[in-house]
Amino acid sequence: MAFHPREKLIVALDYPSLAPALAMARQLEGLAGCFKIGSQLFAAEGPRALEKLARIGGIFLDLKFHDIPNTVAGAVRAAADLPGVRFLDLHTLGGLEPMRAAVEAIRARKSPPQLLGVTILTSHDEQSLRRVGLAGKAAANALRLAKLAKLAGLDGVVASAQEVRPIRRACGPDFLLVVPGIRPASAGLQDQVRVATPSEAIRAGADYLVVGRPITGAPAPASAAAAIVAEIQQALARG
Ligand code: C5P
Repeated sequence: MAFHPREKLIVALDYPSLAPALAMARQLEGLAGCFKIGSQLFAAEGPRALEKLARIGGIFLDLKFHDIPNTVAGAVRAAADLPGVRFLDLHTLGGLEPMRAAVEAIRARKSPPQLLGVTILTSHDEQSLRRVGLAGKAAANALRLAKLAKLAGLDGVVASAQEVRPIRRACGPDFLLVVPGIRPASAGLQDQVRVATPSEAIRAGADYLVVGRPITGAPAPASAAAAIVAEIQQALARG
C-alpha cells in the first residue's frame, strides 16, 4: 500500500518523444508517485526514456504485453531489467498461461516490479465489447479477468473505477487495483468512457490512480496534479 497521498498518483506521459515527456516530468517532480511510460513514448524512444525519467521518479512501464507464454515471459524479463520499473503490465485476455509465465519469469528477483493485468480497457463500452465477442457488461468481464489474474499470481490489475468494489471484494485487500479513466469533475472525457473522479475512485478502494491528459493537458500541470493529490487526501480522510 502507498503512504503519502501523492504516492497514489501515477501520471501518464503519453508523448511522441522524450523532450516533452522529460519537461513534463520535471514540472511534476515530487508531486506524483510514478510516471507511466506507454507504448507511444516507448516505441519512439525505447529504454533511453526510462534511463532519463527514472532519475525523476518511479516508472510504470505500460506496454500491455499480449502474446504467447514464452514471448510474454521474455518481454517481462527484459522490461524488469530496465531502470526504475516499479510496475509492468500484460493483458489478462491473453489467458492464464502467459500470466503464469510472466510471474515465473521474475519470481527469483530480489525486488521485482509489481505485475499488473489489464482487464478491460477503460475506453470499451458494452457495444464495443460485443463486437470483439465478449458478451455482458464490462464490469462482469473485468471481474472474471481479475480473478484469473489473481489465480495466476499477478500482484493486481488495471480496471475502471466502476469495477473496483466487486474486484476488491473477490480478490482481497492486498490485490493492487490501479485505475485509469480518471476525470476530475471539471475535465472533459476525451476518448475514455468508463470514468470516475479521483475521490470516487479512491473511495471505491483504488490503490493507485492513473491520470494523463487532465494533468499533462492542463494550463498549469503542477497545480492540476496538486489538486488531484489534495482530492485523494480528502477522500482517504473521509474513509
Ligand atoms: O489521458 P488519460 O488520463 O486518458 O490517460 C490514461 C492512460 O491510462 C493512458 O496512458 C492509457 O493508455 C492508460 N490506460 C487506460 N485504460 C486501461 C489501461 C491503461 O486508459 N485499461
